[in-house]
Amino acid sequence: MNKDLLSINDLSVEEMQIVFRRADEIRKDAKRYENLLKGRTLALIFEKPSTRTRVSFEVGMWQLGGKSIYMNWNDMQLSRGESIKDTTKVMERYVDGIVARVYSHREVEELSRNAKIPVINGLSDLEHPCQVLADMYTIREKKKVLKGLKLAYLGDGASNVCHSLMLACTKLGMDMYVACPEKYSPNKEILKQAEENSRKFWTTLKIVPKVAQAVTNADIIYTDTWVSMGEEEQAKKRKKDLRPYQLNSEVLKLAKKDCLVMHCLAAHRGQEITDEVIDGPNSVVFDQAENRLHVQKALLTMMLREPPKQVFRPFY
Ligand code: CP
Ligand code: NVA
Repeated sequence: MNKDLLSINDLSVEEMQIVFRRADEIRKDAKRYENLLKGRTLALIFEKPSTRTRVSFEVGMWQLGGKSIYMNWNDMQLSRGESIKDTTKVMERYVDGIVARVYSHREVEELSRNAKIPVINGLSDLEHPCQVLADMYTIREKKKVLKGLKLAYLGDGASNVCHSLMLACTKLGMDMYVACPEKYSPNKEILKQAEENSRKFWTTLKIVPKVAQAVTNADIIYTDTWVSMGEEEQAKKRKKDLRPYQLNSEVLKLAKKDCLVMHCLAAHRGQEITDEVIDGPNSVVFDQAENRLHVQKALLTMMLREPPKQVFRPFY
């Protein structure tokens, strides 16, 4: 397994399956894992707000016997110009792993390049791998299989969540259709990687302009906010451009009857998804949120492998 998890593509199919099975095991026998990370500390360095990612990592560390430290970027010397490199070199003397939520993906890459300890991407502008691992785990839980399912994603095709979904679906045997306006198309490099995955794993990936092309016969419909963190200045334009891509009950009728409705949350009710759909019988959004905890606990047990930091150095 790679030292870091910055992208879904950092994990092989086998490693993803191991994460899912480990999450099942920890849920079944939590007692067995309660001291597994005793003495380990995880730092959460967050440049953007968070509810789920922060709480699920903090609770997860605690349930595994470890400790977490939440650091708001603005409260660190980073905000006064200390370099990411120097910050990393200091942090790794104290903690056993870092989860970072950043604006630019380059920042999490820089952390990873400079750190000997594992770095986990807790959301960047490019990807949200922890979210999507939990999403795949949720689909597996509800549908029992992943292979052969069709996932339709509606809205901002360039969102971090859409990117990670594209990489995950194409690798795990699922077909994915992204319905978005052309100027909200996925990042070219991610698209290239996802297309490579789909060739290798015989899956379909299509970017289409119309909602109906994506959702017809879908097993899963997924949407994300139209205005991601950091895009607030474009809010008005985005809401107007993406309005035809709303996930509402008319759209849901085009999918399979037992279609799962998914959203990474936070949702903007009445914008990308209606109340009726997010609160309806097809919605699994709160299971997705819960599964962040289970999947990330599994990841932590696999990634924080080194023994706890030596805190006492004899003074000879
Ligand atoms: N889905 C997700 O990452 O939520 P938060 O922004 O609340 O962490
Ligand atoms: N695309 C959203 C996801 C939030 C979990 C954002 O980046 O704000």
